Amino acid sequence: MATVQPLRPSSSGFKDRFLKACRGEPVDRTPVWFMRQAGRYQPEYRELRKDRDILEMCRNPELAAEVTMLPLARMDVDAAILFSDIMVPVAEMGFEVRIDPGVGPRVAEPIRTEADVDRLRHPFDPEGQVPYVLEAVRFLRKVLNVPLIGFAGAPFTLASYLIEGGPSRDFARTKAFMHSAPQAWDRLMWTLGQNIQSYLRAQIEAGAQAVQVFDSWVGCLDPADYSHYVAPYMLELFGGLAGLDAPRIHFGVCTGELLTQMRDVGADVVGVDWRVLLNDAWERIGFDVAIQGNLDPAVCLAPWDDVEIKALAVLRRAAGRPGHIFNLGHGVLPQTPPDVLARLVDLVHERTERAAS
Ligand code: CP3
Repeated sequence: MATVQPLRPSSSGFKDRFLKACRGEPVDRTPVWFMRQAGRYQPEYRELRKDRDILEMCRNPELAAEVTMLPLARMDVDAAILFSDIMVPVAEMGFEVRIDPGVGPRVAEPIRTEADVDRLRHPFDPEGQVPYVLEAVRFLRKVLNVPLIGFAGAPFTLASYLIEGGPSRDFARTKAFMHSAPQAWDRLMWTLGQNIQSYLRAQIEAGAQAVQVFDSWVGCLDPADYSHYVAPYMLELFGGLAGLDAPRIHFGVCTGELLTQMRDVGADVVGVDWRVLLNDAWERIGFDVAIQGNLDPAVCLAPWDDVEIKALAVLRRAAGRPGHIFNLGHGVLPQTPPDVLARLVDLVHERTERAAS
């Protein structure tokens, strides 16, 4: 991996404010990072990507490490997220997966019957099945001066791709399966949960200092179905990751009505999108749990003055309490001007500067 240079080698040591904020400790400035901070909005990413397949990039540890570090050269973010995809481990669990640019994940032969659930391989052996991910994590841990966030998709979100066969608006097949075949659903969610737990544990052992579980699409459920069909598996997943000294971030989109449940399954940090005001979200979660968010990513396409107004509104709602991690409410949009993100990081840092106790 000699081609990858450590970035910002002259800057002053390791930046730990992200990890402190995850634990609810006071920090000198509010930490910032962005979901999808490495991606198509960056000319350097597009250059590396060219006509390569994204899963192929994820399976190349040198390239994955290089892409992970791209945003750090451009902006002063307080964390790096491993460059990978939630479908990377799923592609090693017995299903043929590809990712179509501009569309999303596609599963060749999705789960359509109860018997199809048995095609999902387990147990999952990260060292044997995704060695390239762990290699990238080990390397990054050596060269980064910010914490490295590992991640995985949550069982519900992964199940939705396995059942729908691709992205979905209404998750009709997923919900129909969940309601009509509860025992098969239980096996599917349990197996995915166990596999993902092994996967995240391996990332932490390889050096990831925090983990984010993306339950991106779980906000399509009502609170009763969440509690019955999702919460038990999340409790098991987060419970298995407790005590590893790596904060657990739990994120989903459209989850305003599920926030207390998402906290109760064992998250150290709850990620929120922009559809709920940060202060309302934090009140629901409770101020003893950290919160991550929640600027609307589309705001970054507006003139700077509007970006600033909206970003400061998020900070005002956080009210300087310990345990806020500034982020967008979902991933960076591909049309985002890279300079806006760099300016946003500096704005948040400047406006939240305080003496850490
Ligand atoms: O945040 C980061 O910088 C790390 C990289 C990352 C990717 N995928 C790379 C990627 C992360 C954290 C993910 C997670 C992921 N993947 C999620 C959960 C987060 C979320 O957005 O809710 C989901 C649902 C997926 C599935 C997926 N993969 C989608 C919906 C897409 C977008 C399809 C498209 O082209 O619009 C992908 C592809 C993908 N994953 C890209 C990147 C950078 C775009 C790839 C490209 O075309 O170069």
